[in-house]
Amino acid sequence: MPILSWRKRLEIILGAGEGLAYLHGGMEVQVIYRDFKSSNVLLDKDFKPKLSDFGLAREGPTGDRTHVSTAVVGTYGYAAPEYVETGHLTIHSDVWSFGVVLYEILTGRRTLERNRPVVEQKLLDWVKQFPVDSKRFSMIIDPRLANEYSFKSAKQTAKLADSCLKKNARERPAMTQVVESLKQIIQDLEGGSTSTNMNAESSQSSLFRRKQNKVCPYVLS
Ligand SMILES: Nc1ncnc2c1ncn2[C@@H]1O[C@H](COP(=O)(O)OP(=O)(O)OP(=O)(O)O)[C@@H](O)[C@H]1O
Ligand SMILES: [Mg+2]
Repeated sequence: MPILSWRKRLEIILGAGEGLAYLHGGMEVQVIYRDFKSSNVLLDKDFKPKLSDFGLAREGPTGDRTHVSTAVVGTYGYAAPEYVETGHLTIHSDVWSFGVVLYEILTGRRTLERNRPVVEQKLLDWVKQFPVDSKRFSMIIDPRLANEYSFKSAKQTAKLADSCLKKNARERPAMTQVVESLKQIIQDLEGGSTSTNMNAESSQSSLFRRKQNKVCPYVLS
């Protein structure tokens, strides 16, 4: 099956990030999405992403409160550790989930790969063995990208993912910062020595499913 090019993956995740940034800070009330994962990023016929499934979204904390307490729901593999442990929900938990999806687009793997050797089954545990500044890092990059990606941008993306996956929630970047970083990474692709495979654009990745066109950009109405 044809794959989504590296550039397209970055553009899709940028759109999804803009959707999250909008929910976090673009409205009068702050909204925590709570279930950010690749299957909730739907694509229209032009591969423009929309966030779907607002069933779990919550209004963020108001006044001096720093978090909302809830029963833990969401999806295994994407939920932030502090949320799983305490039920304390903040926008930083969405940032964690975003980091998980960044590793999905880098590796082409799902958060749980039941058919692989045990050490490779849990995505986040597996990628930890291939730190971004080590020589081994390139081994986790989706082999289906072959050499059709920019190694530099893959490293930048992994670094961004690592910042989203900081154990201390407050050390994670705001989604607006994440969006800026992704824009920069994509912009650098343009002038750089990349050979991203633009021909694969009309194809569909197993990571993301298509969705019919909707009017509102990035957030499903
Ligand atoms: N409107 C839609 N058009 C096309 N595909 C869709 C649509 N809604 C969902 N899907 C796809 O169908 C599959 C099931 O979606 P569904 O939302 O039921 O489960 P999920 O996203 O895996 O989990 P969750 O219930 O937590 O959102 C996913 O792969 C999703 O991307
Ligand atoms: Mg869904």
